[in-house]
Amino acid sequence: MKPLILITGAYGQLGQSFQELAVQYDEMSFLFTSRAQLDITDEHTVTNFFQKHQLHACINAAAYTAVDLAEQEADKALQTNVTAVYHLAKAAAQRRIPFIHFSTDYVYHNELNRPLRETDPLLPRSVYARTKLKGEQMAQQVHPASTIFRTSWVYSRHGHNFLKTMLRLAQERSQLQVVYDQVGAPTWAQDLAQAILDILRAFFSGQLSGRYLSGIFNYANEGVSSWYDFAKAIFKLTGSSCQVLPIRSEQYHTAAPRPHYSLLDKSRFRKTFQLDIPHWHDSLERCLSEMELHRTPTSTNHSNNNS
Ligand SMILES: NC(=O)c1ccc[n+]([C@@H]2O[C@H](COP(=O)([O-])OP(=O)(O)OC[C@H]3O[C@@H](n4cnc5c(N)ncnc54)[C@H](OP(=O)(O)O)[C@@H]3O)[C@@H](O)[C@H]2O)c1
Repeated sequence: MKPLILITGAYGQLGQSFQELAVQYDEMSFLFTSRAQLDITDEHTVTNFFQKHQLHACINAAAYTAVDLAEQEADKALQTNVTAVYHLAKAAAQRRIPFIHFSTDYVYHNELNRPLRETDPLLPRSVYARTKLKGEQMAQQVHPASTIFRTSWVYSRHGHNFLKTMLRLAQERSQLQVVYDQVGAPTWAQDLAQAILDILRAFFSGQLSGRYLSGIFNYANEGVSSWYDFAKAIFKLTGSSCQVLPIRSEQYHTAAPRPHYSLLDKSRFRKTFQLDIPHWHDSLERCLSEMELHRTPTSTNHSNNNS
């Protein structure tokens, strides 16, 4: 019998990436659920779902991710990012199956100005970031073996993200201002989804002991970038003539504050799972190729040893 994996939030960026990759992992079966099929904030619905399906792992790709709107919708963010995590983690713990969950670089926000390690001080400074941290804590409280991936700057061909915003604005304007004083690493949702599926493949085939699954792991693409660098790369690779002007964060007001330094140290991930992490620029090229928007030849060979 194939292991059956539940993936919530199936139509989000990460959820759709899981859907696209699932065909390559035919030793596992997947149940993908949208909010309409499984509203994770409803405990009764979650309990019934777990009773109906004999699951072998639960991946929670659902979340409240509207970072700025969360400042006004704290209750909604709390329901999805904390209460719903409690429901899923509890149900997974009762069935003694792995619970895989996602969090954000925003939980750090600590001004250390060096690649951030999982053990570093956590100073979330927005409603979204605080709910994500509480969600991590909730998962670990009710399911101590939870696997939590803190990731950053997620983009894909699906949903709302920086890449798609830049592509849209480039059609409308000849010039754009983009902040240069926030540094981190863009993460292609497909790379993250693939890493999780590789980990589960290793786990279900017996190559990875369950004890390695528990804990918090940073995951982002390799390399360093500012939002300005990211925008420049997008326009260069797509052959856009849109000009990018660097501005400081103070010149671009957002309701929720963003960290200036968000680069994640991925040593724990690499050491535990022995998986390579692609460089953000290579992944951006691959994403744009899949979107049939890549217009310029590949030139740079990026090394994989930044953090
Ligand atoms: N995006 C980023 O830059 C970023 C950065 C760091 C960490 N993360 C984390 O990475 C994970 C995946 O993010 P993402 O970018 O893939 O998010 P996303 O594109 O916003 O997708 C989230 C999905 O969750 C669904 N959802 C929301 N509330 C739900 C509920 N009550 N029941 C069931 N489904 C619900 C949404 O459905 P609806 O469309 O119906 O609302 C949506 O399909 C999240 O945990 C996020 O916090 C993201």
